[in-house]
Amino acid sequence: MKAVRIHRQGDHDDLVYEDAPRSAAATGDVLVEVHAASFVPDELTWPGTWVDRAGRDRAPSIPGHEVAGVVAEVRYGTTGLNPGDRVFGLTDWHRDGAAAEYVAVEARNLAVIPDGLGFEEAAALPLAGLTAWQGLFVHGGLRAGQRVVVHGAAGGTGTLAVQLARHAGAHVIATGRGRAAALAAELGAHAFVDLEQQPLRPAVGQVDLVFDTIGGDLLARSADLVGPGGALVSITAPPPVAPAGGRAAFFIVEPDHVQLAELARLAGSGAVRAHVGAVHPLAEAAKAFAAKQRGIPGKVVLSVR
Ligand SMILES: NC(=O)c1ccc[n+]([C@@H]2O[C@H](COP(=O)([O-])OP(=O)(O)OC[C@H]3O[C@@H](n4cnc5c(N)ncnc54)[C@H](OP(=O)(O)O)[C@@H]3O)[C@@H](O)[C@H]2O)c1
Repeated sequence: MKAVRIHRQGDHDDLVYEDAPRSAAATGDVLVEVHAASFVPDELTWPGTWVDRAGRDRAPSIPGHEVAGVVAEVRYGTTGLNPGDRVFGLTDWHRDGAAAEYVAVEARNLAVIPDGLGFEEAAALPLAGLTAWQGLFVHGGLRAGQRVVVHGAAGGTGTLAVQLARHAGAHVIATGRGRAAALAAELGAHAFVDLEQQPLRPAVGQVDLVFDTIGGDLLARSADLVGPGGALVSITAPPPVAPAGGRAAFFIVEPDHVQLAELARLAGSGAVRAHVGAVHPLAEAAKAFAAKQRGIPGKVVLSVR
């Protein structure tokens, strides 16, 4: 099959479009004929890109852990999915990803794509959607009527977090660079803070939850925004300072079939949509990674078929 692979630790310039052995489905797996895939800009630095679960070198490695495609083959233990089903979901961090014509995925990490949702939009949804869901509701405990800050609102994760928080009835304060303001408003944010122009604390006031997708100094300064009983939740690093009277949390997104199916339902009904900032053919994966690093909003998607 055609695939994009990286043979040694490096950056996106080291991605090669080439022939590779077709992925083999194991017990519990479905083989997916990939139509579209997506990725996280810094995933080539993640340990799972380079080693399997036992810590063994697994290069050359196929990136892109978000997939949308058609079930080509089902193995034992994959009840509920059939060849020909349109599916989307997350592939294992420690196995080959979806930047290829085929990928083997555990069936429990897939859900059926709702009618009316295209492959490219579906590929942009699983990682960002699950991360936003878990950050807001599982780790952040967000409820209707609460105030939430979403740092990095125009990013892959941020675009979903703004919409999910708004859909849940929260008051949403989005942050980012000034160019992100229009998109944040379009996605339903009630307010926007330009991090390069406005002082954070006076612009935000006190909130119940800060959901951080940027990290660094901003994460350290954000503890101060959280009111009593609130939470500071980050996907970039453990918060160095916990809010006074509140909680601090860092988490790694987990595959979750029920949450994935709920995201599919919300996307199918139009309540949320993955923001596809750009689409590149699979052969141009290196350009796609570079484009994302230049500030394309939302997700950059690889079109495979
Ligand atoms: N823990 C987990 O499970 C998990 C899951 C998914 C992602 N992540 C991590 O979370 C981070 C975000 O992922 P993502 O896919 O959402 O990335 P992304 O699409 O690049 O989103 C990040 C957003 O933050 C903005 N931003 C970054 N630095 C900024 C700054 N200094 N000032 C203002 N805005 C800034 C970016 O704007 P520009 O593009 O204009 O810079 C972009 O809109 C990455 O580090 C990723 O590895 C972790």
